Amino acid sequence: SVPQLKRLLAHSHYLKQVSLPWLEPQGPAYQKKSSKLRLPSQSLFNKTIALLFSKRSTRTRLSAETSAVLLGGRALFLGREDIQLGVNESPRDTARVIGGMCQGIFARVGEHEEIEELAKYSPVPVLNALSSLWHPTQILADLLTLHENAHLFEPDATAPSIDKRAAYKNTLPELRPLTVAYVGDSANVLHDMLVTYPRLGHKLRVASPEQYRAPTEVWNRVKELECDKGIWWGSDPKEAVQGADVVVTDTWISMGQEAEKAERLKAFAGYQVTEDLCREGGANPNWKFLHCLPRKQDEVDDEVFYGPRSLAFPEADNRKWTIMAIFDLLFGKWNISAESQSL
Ligand code: CP
Ligand code: NVA
Repeated sequence: SVPQLKRLLAHSHYLKQVSLPWLEPQGPAYQKKSSKLRLPSQSLFNKTIALLFSKRSTRTRLSAETSAVLLGGRALFLGREDIQLGVNESPRDTARVIGGMCQGIFARVGEHEEIEELAKYSPVPVLNALSSLWHPTQILADLLTLHENAHLFEPDATAPSIDKRAAYKNTLPELRPLTVAYVGDSANVLHDMLVTYPRLGHKLRVASPEQYRAPTEVWNRVKELECDKGIWWGSDPKEAVQGADVVVTDTWISMGQEAEKAERLKAFAGYQVTEDLCREGGANPNWKFLHCLPRKQDEVDDEVFYGPRSLAFPEADNRKWTIMAIFDLLFGKWNISAESQSL
């Protein structure tokens, strides 16, 4: 639900604020460290989370491994070359065996059905680390980044980016309703935006070539959640960025689609996010940029990607704190319904 999502984001923000002073001994936060500050509770103490990844990962894997350490537990990376799954053993048997020894499974799979199969037979919670259809943990980081930078979307963009006292009280900086444009492939990251952003009051404007639109099962979910009213969809990138406060894109060639590269590069010609595109399309002159990474130049040029509008690297950092909050909730001891966090 939306209130639970906001509490999860607030908890991510809290975990970041209490952890960073300890992790950056050279930084100003460490120098000013209050005697009340401490590391987050060891809520994964003695626990192991299996990272069952059949595709590559930098951010998701690092987030899981480093946040498990901070919560006092262990993340055990099981890549496709490491275990019997897919060669000598079925997902069903694998899920049962891993679940007999670990307290949670964070799984990155090919087809979405694979994660459903794992969840069906696992005796412990299974969390999606990316599938062909969805990438739910990614948009948690995107939303945390937007909330933390809420002041950038106000007419007077001078407020500090992080209200530390708010973080310690376990609250999230308020974010005004935004117009978010997504220019590119209708893939896993966009699909989670489609079922979430409209429920948070943000408008979505999507441009993708007609043959690359969300599959029926995703669209059915969008309608079931009544998100369709908040979404504009077309094939002209300039039209999509009209009034956009945030412009988002992703690779045009997702993992597993390498064979379609030539065809996709052709279909997405003209979809590269640039200053010119957004100016000509009438984006908010103050627009900001998000990208889940890894990034290629095809979908966004260097000027935008490395320029002052880009929040892509803070967004990457926030993968850690949001995944840490989810681990704390699903596999650890954090109670999402508790009112506030005590220091
Ligand atoms: N954004 C993201 O999921 O990155 P990785 O594939 O590197 O984990
Ligand atoms: N759409 C991309 C996201 C990578 C994080 C992919 O699935 O490869």
